[in-house]
Amino acid sequence: MKVNRLIFAALWVLLGVPVQAQNTDKAEMDAYINELMGRMTLQEKIGQLNLITPGGGIPTGSAVSTGVESKLKDGLVGGIFGVSSPEKVRQTQELAVEESRLGIPVLVGSDVIHGYKTTFPIPLGLASSWDMELIEKTARVAAKEATADGIFWNFSPMVDIARDPRWGRIAEGAGEDPFLGSEIAKAMVRGYQGDDLTSPNTMMATVKHFALYGASEAGRDYNTTDMSRIRMFNEYLPPYKAAIDAGVGSVMSSFNDVDGIPASGNKWLLTDLLRDQWGFDGFVVSDYTSVNEMIAHGMGDLQAVSALSLKAGLDMDMVGEGFLTTLEKSLKEGKITEDEIELACRRVLEAKYKLGLFEDPYRYADDSRPKKDILTKANRQVAREAAARSFVLLKNEMNTLPLSQSGSIALVGPLANNKNNMLGTWAPTGNPQLSIPILEGMENVGGRKVKVRYAKGANISDDVEFAKKVNVFGTRIAIDERSPEEMLNEALDLAAQSEVVVAVIGEATEMSGESANRTDISLPESQKKLVRALAKTGKPLVLVMMSGRPMAIGEEYELATSLLQVWHPGVEAGNAIADVLFGAYNPSGKLTATFPHNVGQIPVHYRMKNTGRPQDGDTFMKFKSNYLDAPNSPLFAFGYGLSYTDFDYGKPVFSQTKLKGNESLKVSVDITNTGNFDGEEVVQLYTRDLVASVTRPVKELKGFQKINLKKGETKTVTFELTADDLAFYNFNLEFGWEPGDFEIMVGPSSDNVQSAVVSWEK
Ligand code: BGC
Repeated sequence: MKVNRLIFAALWVLLGVPVQAQNTDKAEMDAYINELMGRMTLQEKIGQLNLITPGGGIPTGSAVSTGVESKLKDGLVGGIFGVSSPEKVRQTQELAVEESRLGIPVLVGSDVIHGYKTTFPIPLGLASSWDMELIEKTARVAAKEATADGIFWNFSPMVDIARDPRWGRIAEGAGEDPFLGSEIAKAMVRGYQGDDLTSPNTMMATVKHFALYGASEAGRDYNTTDMSRIRMFNEYLPPYKAAIDAGVGSVMSSFNDVDGIPASGNKWLLTDLLRDQWGFDGFVVSDYTSVNEMIAHGMGDLQAVSALSLKAGLDMDMVGEGFLTTLEKSLKEGKITEDEIELACRRVLEAKYKLGLFEDPYRYADDSRPKKDILTKANRQVAREAAARSFVLLKNEMNTLPLSQSGSIALVGPLANNKNNMLGTWAPTGNPQLSIPILEGMENVGGRKVKVRYAKGANISDDVEFAKKVNVFGTRIAIDERSPEEMLNEALDLAAQSEVVVAVIGEATEMSGESANRTDISLPESQKKLVRALAKTGKPLVLVMMSGRPMAIGEEYELATSLLQVWHPGVEAGNAIADVLFGAYNPSGKLTATFPHNVGQIPVHYRMKNTGRPQDGDTFMKFKSNYLDAPNSPLFAFGYGLSYTDFDYGKPVFSQTKLKGNESLKVSVDITNTGNFDGEEVVQLYTRDLVASVTRPVKELKGFQKINLKKGETKTVTFELTADDLAFYNFNLEFGWEPGDFEIMVGPSSDNVQSAVVSWEK
């Protein structure tokens, strides 16, 4: 390591390149990069715009890069992903630093979406904790582990608002709400980047996928998005903006089109909005071959789409090499300018400078770190706590949960003793074999007096063709050699011999995530049969539901005694589930994405508008906005989630009901823990703008506080609102608040609030 640094320093002296000053003073950075760029050839500048992968991660596009080594030596690479370990990263960096003409280090990136090797719950699960400190901590741990393994540029956070649970990537984000999504975006950027990007423990974050990727039509991945600007600005763009305000280093453009132009070539998006309006000064990277994919979008040939992207403000081309192979030609033909190439090159070099790479390109290649920093006991403990905090208790009749630590439990279900499906989607750096199955967790936590016996009961799905599509990265759906009847009978026998049945059911890891969309979001038939049969036994039936999306589980909800939504919990799955089932941790999660009754209700979310013919409640009324065959309300609303204890909300107290512009409103509510367990509650504040120049949602989250209450304890929670909190984008896309009446609501869930109307004048 030291030798390398010496060689490196000597080499740079020989090359006449100044060693980077330690801080990121703008003038010094400019001078440094000016000098460097002064010596770069056109091809070397274009090379900085090239992001390659030898294919070590998940090659989600059709291509992986070729000639990696020679491209590195020729200075034709700006960044690389799919390479890890200090040794490999050092070797890669050496090719760039010691063998290329100018010795410019490369960015080393990866998708560290919910933990590096210590896999945390999927992001939708983490969001359900409503715990910003915890989310930041998971990102911090992820950064520490990833940098220990040589990676210092992360393709996370994914902040796409998603209101369509058919879309598999809903698993990767924070859910449906722009306010909560923005808070989480900030927490993740802080967690990854810390306050010093040059620290060997922090990594540069990338906010993605800019923009509107979560609104793909019909929930089909990569599909068209089309929405009004007013919806964009009020509902979909805030989390990206929040990440940018938090100082995120890079932005990834999305696959979809925005207003008819694919994001990667959309100048309005990447320059007018991102840079001119929002002041973003980092660099923009495309998604995997998203530049090339503009050919299929119908935007021209590779040369045309590459030129379009560069001119739009895209700085780095992921894997497709359209930039590398066509920009020089486009320049000669006058289709782009040298300034445009220089600007993109400068932005990439600035990122390297800010990471301290010019000072020491090997700062993330420290062989002693993986052992010290990765998968430590402490990190696994964070994963265990994070998982427990991400679970949402959806039903708990007769206080079946927590389970007693004596007696007999029938643990059944295809996900009850399974390592392959615990980590969840987009965990390419995690090792499923290190995860704790539920059976093991129950044995670890349950103690000697409880007898836990297991039977699989059913396959995740009996559909061989479906299983093939899900099993592309290894066996996620293992179809048993035994017949479904045999498995079911075994489970029923076990249930008959046990006092309580715990069934761990739901989706395999790869049933959600990228390119894993479903038009039917209910439980596969094989598992439905299992649940029905178990319910018939009359034993208390605890359903532990694993999934990467909100599912249509109305029937299971009816049949279960208790229902615990656990998402895909990560490496400590079994221990965390057992902690919650046995009451070592009292669940405190709340949903951040609405659970519909059926796919026909989609989109259904709490922040809907009223229509001119709103129906009051779910009783059908002719000529009101409704359905003949389903209620308007969802199965579970945004913000919903139970606890083993009960929280009693007092009447909210408003500091005043008539306010002037610069005054602030205080809303206080007393919450009392009236049940038998200590517990945590997420207190939520919503507003509704009753009259405005444009139609406004019936509810908008404007605040939340997660509090801890001991048995019998009362706490007063106070929210403070200013008129700025009521601001929105109007028809002309001007941001501001409009005086008038506002309903202010407080409660434990978006569908359970107490409210008062206040008037707020200028
Ligand atoms: C995904 C991105 C990811 C990239 C690189 C793409 O298919 O959309 O989220 O960062 O691959 O792995």
